[in-house]
Amino acid sequence: MNVIYRGGIIGTGSYLPERILTNQDLEKMVDTSDEWITTRTGIKERRIADSDTATSDLAAKAAQNALLNAGLEASEIDLIIVATITPDKNFPSTACIVQSKIKAYNAVAFDISAACTGFIYGIVIANQFITTGLYKNILVIGAETLSKFVDWQDRNTCVLFGDGAGAVVMSKVKEGYGVLAQYLGSDGSGGDTLAIDAGGSRNPATFETISQKMHYIRMDGNEVFKFAVKIMASAAEEVVKIAGINKSDVDFLVPHQANIRIIEAARKRMGLPENRVYVNLERYGNMSAASIPVALDEAVNSGAIKSGDNVILVGFGAGLTWGSCLVKWE
Ligand code: ACO
Repeated sequence: MNVIYRGGIIGTGSYLPERILTNQDLEKMVDTSDEWITTRTGIKERRIADSDTATSDLAAKAAQNALLNAGLEASEIDLIIVATITPDKNFPSTACIVQSKIKAYNAVAFDISAACTGFIYGIVIANQFITTGLYKNILVIGAETLSKFVDWQDRNTCVLFGDGAGAVVMSKVKEGYGVLAQYLGSDGSGGDTLAIDAGGSRNPATFETISQKMHYIRMDGNEVFKFAVKIMASAAEEVVKIAGINKSDVDFLVPHQANIRIIEAARKRMGLPENRVYVNLERYGNMSAASIPVALDEAVNSGAIKSGDNVILVGFGAGLTWGSCLVKWE
């Protein structure tokens, strides 16, 4: 009989920059208020990387923490996947920079771009390599320094985002555990709702693109909100269906941390009590690809996720993209 290997998460880690930017700090920078930000988003503060810290610096530290937690050496890693929309440079990939920083010399390394869903895409990609048996130990990292791509004069976006990194080590796990189901989606026709318009081949960086602030995040918040409320709940439901279990069998939800109202809508549709959904956006804001792995690491460390739990990771983001996976925690 053919053995089907299933990938599971054998270690988690995260790293957050020390500097905290509160809603009160933002009140002094743009026309906003703690009351508006808190009621519309749930965010109270976020972390901001220093000027000399890049995404790979955060990613490498999160990866080292995940390796420690998994009890593996960097040399035992076969593949590094970094999900980010704020890479150190256009090229080389941030994953290659991380490989060098952590001395994972036996690894293949590449980046993926799926915005806030990037970490879920990474888990699904890693799981395919484990299932085929091609790679044994894989680092999946979600890392962002969004503060460097935000217009700090634009109140529509600057209050929402933060910097950070989270990582997991994936390996083959015991039968019946690991990634039981996975579900990804993309809709490129919605790509204009959320983008950085300049710095790529469509609009290479020029003095004009800079003066028009086209190198900053531009977002139609309302459109993204409508999409997110629908897709987060339906992606979570979809993965339950694919796994062939019932909603009542789901023990824990780790959602993308963009807005408490979006998370609440998904929680209610899944019929989960508040203590079965991990929320940390009040402390970190939206860290795009880093949000889910940081939340997962905190949930595991706090003891909220236990062996045997059916855990759903679910996210949505620019692209548009969305995805979920159901992991039976070993
Ligand atoms: N402070 C005060 N007022 C503000 C602020 C602010 N920081 N930002 C916007 N406003 C104003 C707007 O200008 C608007 O004023 P107007 O009515 O006079 O024009 C008013 O507040 C209401 O704006 P809305 O857009 O209706 O507010 P909404 O309730 O939709 O909340 C928000 C806005 C928080 C952005 C919400 O739409 C949201 O969370 N959207 C989803 C964003 C998201 O999840 N992005 C994730 C993807 S990120 C990625 O993939 C990188």
